[in-house]
Amino acid sequence: MNNKTLKKSMLLCTFSILASSAFSQGNHVEAPIMGWSSWNTYRVNINDNLIRKQADAMVSSGLKDAGYKYVNIDDGYFGYRDENGLLHTHPERFPEGLKSVVDHIHSLGLKAGIYSEAGTNTCGSMWDNDKNGIGVGLYGYEHQDADLFFNKWGFDFIKIDYCGGQQLELDEQKRYTTIVNAIRDVCPRNISLNICRWAYPGRWAKELARSWRISGDIGPSWESIKYIISKNLYLSAFAGDGHYNDMDMLEIGRGLKQEEEETHFGMWCIMSSPLLIGCDLTSIPEQSLKLLTNKELIALNQDPLSLQAYVVQHEGNGYVLVKDIEKRRGNIRAVALYNPSDETCSFNVPLSLLELEGKTKVRDLINRKDERSVNKTLQFDVAPHSVKILRLESEKRIEQSIYEAEQALLNKYDDLGKRKRPVTYKPTEEASGKMTVSNLGADKNNFAQWNNVFSENGGTYKMKIKYIPAELQDREINDHKIEVTVNGTTTRLSELETDRSKGIATAELDINLDKGYNTIKIGSRRTWVPDIDCFELEKISNKM
Ligand code: GLA
Repeated sequence: MNNKTLKKSMLLCTFSILASSAFSQGNHVEAPIMGWSSWNTYRVNINDNLIRKQADAMVSSGLKDAGYKYVNIDDGYFGYRDENGLLHTHPERFPEGLKSVVDHIHSLGLKAGIYSEAGTNTCGSMWDNDKNGIGVGLYGYEHQDADLFFNKWGFDFIKIDYCGGQQLELDEQKRYTTIVNAIRDVCPRNISLNICRWAYPGRWAKELARSWRISGDIGPSWESIKYIISKNLYLSAFAGDGHYNDMDMLEIGRGLKQEEEETHFGMWCIMSSPLLIGCDLTSIPEQSLKLLTNKELIALNQDPLSLQAYVVQHEGNGYVLVKDIEKRRGNIRAVALYNPSDETCSFNVPLSLLELEGKTKVRDLINRKDERSVNKTLQFDVAPHSVKILRLESEKRIEQSIYEAEQALLNKYDDLGKRKRPVTYKPTEEASGKMTVSNLGADKNNFAQWNNVFSENGGTYKMKIKYIPAELQDREINDHKIEVTVNGTTTRLSELETDRSKGIATAELDINLDKGYNTIKIGSRRTWVPDIDCFELEKISNKM
């Protein structure tokens, strides 16, 4: 690339950094992106005319008015690299390059997204026999491609895939850091970036990307929807502050049953996933369009608190998820009663488990209608493959008394499967929520952290930690410990139960909480920690 042009582009971009940092001084947190992506319906068979038509349909269908903004070109546009390394688009599919397509998208008041590959060869070259995907990835061309994508063509979003990265056996964290640094060097205006590594990659992703895929590719089947939801159930603590777990593009309008489409969209909304429609927007079924433009569900997804709902109950086949909306620790919360099974599921949810008390108004957000108010317990029968998404408004907000291990931020968690004995979520029938966290400890950074332990007035609490002796070697069992750190002060518990056959054991200690938010960590610097189920808090006295 010519140095003069690069400098000119950098100057243009410096202006946008200044503008965007001035903007970010407000309390603005970016919501999950909403838009359309070419992959689910068209795979690599895309072209200039098709993309323009989809962009036009985004406007004419009313989707743009409902909040969908991004038109994302996925795999399939690649042509070749010339002798100067410059990337060219596919000669038949995009004969005029991409600048005029992006201009068209922008002229409609929309934003444009592009796709690339962290390594050398694209996924399409491996799975869709797209020969033009060979040698066109970002590897070795980071600055040059970033300049082309963002300065010359004008894209606003990029999804970066990893088939080629895997082929070259690159380290994910290093590789994505290099790419993001190059993008920031060349054009650090506000580019929305997606890491596409098909598993939760680790906490570093939040430093680099707006969103990261947590699963393999979605398909238009109930099995696929259910699998992706199950992968995201316990990842809420890793998202937030404008960064999101990406559950993949939507399969709505592609043949799922109505209740399955509702569950798909409802769960993507309450879990704050990006919402990228994957069907043909020019022939979208009316029922699907109605669902995709449901204002109340969209508001739930775009809620300014930027929170992902977490699981508070898992009984029988059902899962109950909850999150604050509109105001942190207010009286309004959103709840999902999710039934992935093939039988009807009866939910009985005490309001206290949702930290609510008193007369509670209930609104069904999928059907956009008010339900009868409740006083103590939410009771609903939910049909197979279905969900109820509710907005609750109560008289009073109370303190949380059970903190599940699977709600915590696991500092060393990654789903890439590279570590020996990694910290994991372990299905455990006798545990509350039927889940424990296994393999914490043996490293000062391998802890579980609950960031928002709220105390109304501060005071002394009895903390009861429920755990199961881990499946360890004898020597390790006798040696295992729990270190509890409350706002930086650590207590070590070493007289622990070691007989696994006794089931759940309890360790107790008194802790002091400050008024407001507190941070609690469980780990152990040198030894393994038993499998943690949850901890309970019971107030003993107010702060002196
Ligand atoms: C991977 C991604 C998909 C899609 C294809 C393109 O499989 O996970 O979302 O981008 O590559 O080839």
